[in-house]
Amino acid sequence: MSNTHFGFESVDERDKARRVRGVFDSVAPRYDLMNDLMSGGLHRAWKAYTLLVANAQPGDRVLDIAGGTGDLAMAFAKKVGPAGRVVHTDINEAMLRCGRDRMLDAGLALPTVVCDAEKLPFPDASFELVTVAFGLRNMTHKEAALAEMNRVLTARGKLLVLEFSRVAKPLQKAYDWYSFKVLPLLGQAVAGDADSYRYLAESIRMHPGQDELKAMMRKCGFGHVDYHNMTGGVVALHVGIKC
Ligand SMILES: C[S@@+](CC[C@H](N)C(=O)[O-])C[C@H]1O[C@@H](n2cnc3c(N)ncnc32)[C@H](O)[C@@H]1O
Repeated sequence: MSNTHFGFESVDERDKARRVRGVFDSVAPRYDLMNDLMSGGLHRAWKAYTLLVANAQPGDRVLDIAGGTGDLAMAFAKKVGPAGRVVHTDINEAMLRCGRDRMLDAGLALPTVVCDAEKLPFPDASFELVTVAFGLRNMTHKEAALAEMNRVLTARGKLLVLEFSRVAKPLQKAYDWYSFKVLPLLGQAVAGDADSYRYLAESIRMHPGQDELKAMMRKCGFGHVDYHNMTGGVVALHVGIKC
């Protein structure tokens, strides 16, 4: 038996995925509203920048991992057009259902697959682009997931990891106050769930920082890795090229 972290708690590895599922089952109906409230709408800019860096072309095949309510999958679908293909995936059915409903409301029907990023049900070299936004942090075996993302990419394919990261020192105090005091209160008021938003703040602190994640991606087969800090390092976009 081996232990891992769930926020600041140490839990049996076999238990983490169940605990993470509980978080997203609970927050799914209010997920989009909470994203806007918590980030003051900034998550839209972070995702828009991800799209810009991805530079998806018409006809590209894109895999969105931990796609949740589908922000990125929907945006990529516009970029790749009818000749391309975007597969919207997540381990959590409740999150995927919310995403699928939003897409159908927008007149979009994308292939949607419930799957674990650590064991992707896709053949080798089947996507030019793989994206994972705010998902890697929640995975139990991050290296296994990154290796899977590498496996399903074509040669010279691109992985984009958008994730919370380490903030610049001058922002730390205010950011900690906001994360540990304000977020749980907001979570309680809007989603009726303070614990899930406490987990969010804790899981960010336990996630590898910019350089550590870069090294991890290199180890998992990405010959070139770079990162772009956003909002003073609140979020970083890591770009890995399979080469
Ligand atoms: C914070 S949400 C991000 C949703 C979306 N990508 C976004 O940016 O709004 C994190 C997502 O990661 C998913 N997730 C957690 N562990 C996963 C795993 N092992 N495989 C696939 N998805 C996972 C959760 O179910 C959840 O939907």
